[in-house]
Amino acid sequence: MGNLTTAFCRRRQVRVLMLGLDAAGKTTILYKHVLGEVVTTIPTIGFNVETCKILNAEMTVWDVGTRGKMRPLWRHYYQNTQAIVFVVDSTDRDRIDEAKQILHELLTEDELTMIPIAVALNKRDLENCMSKEELEKKLDLRSIQQQRPCEVFLTTAYPSAEVQSEITRLMEWVAEYPADREEGSVPKQKTDRFSSYFWQPLMKM
Ligand code: GTP
Ligand code: MG
Repeated sequence: MGNLTTAFCRRRQVRVLMLGLDAAGKTTILYKHVLGEVVTTIPTIGFNVETCKILNAEMTVWDVGTRGKMRPLWRHYYQNTQAIVFVVDSTDRDRIDEAKQILHELLTEDELTMIPIAVALNKRDLENCMSKEELEKKLDLRSIQQQRPCEVFLTTAYPSAEVQSEITRLMEWVAEYPADREEGSVPKQKTDRFSSYFWQPLMKM
């Protein structure tokens, strides 16, 4: 009986890959979510990995160091990834084109085809951050949203800001709509009848 209960209560395992330019705030977001507090970070060499339970999922979140020389190593983390969190520093005007480039290159990888992506526009507590609209345009998120589930979140790790709970919302979204790799199917999708993701294939017919 014990085994039966365990089988029925077993949480879905969701493997999440967290990427973005260095200093975007990946490690800070990860530990803010897991520990509930802001930790002092140093640039990640290699990776951090944490598991956390959210909704009915047990998530394993891989936060991979992204300084220049480490980027070729990213591909070693792609296999079995079911959701991507891409973190962007909303104040980093100088590197927003670079962020766009690595984001779009990432999504051309075979192993990441159709994987849902949550984009965290981070550091919203800072006054000089770019607006959501500006960032969406600069990152060309619309073209991604036409191809796969892609949701944008305004995040910050710092408690003073109202948008703090966005980190939780982001993690819930990721937990709820992972790509179902086992069935090889299209990722589970919110049944938003008006999303371009839903309509686009129909419009092509
Ligand atoms: P790498 O490990 O080098 O790839 O960087 P990372 O993306 O993991 O960045 P990290 O979490 O180490 O954060 C970089 C710096 O940004 C740190 O000084 C953080 O304290 C700061 N930071 C992260 N998130 C926020 C935020 O929401 N607001 C502000 N003001 N600072 C932040
Ligand atoms: Mg880091």
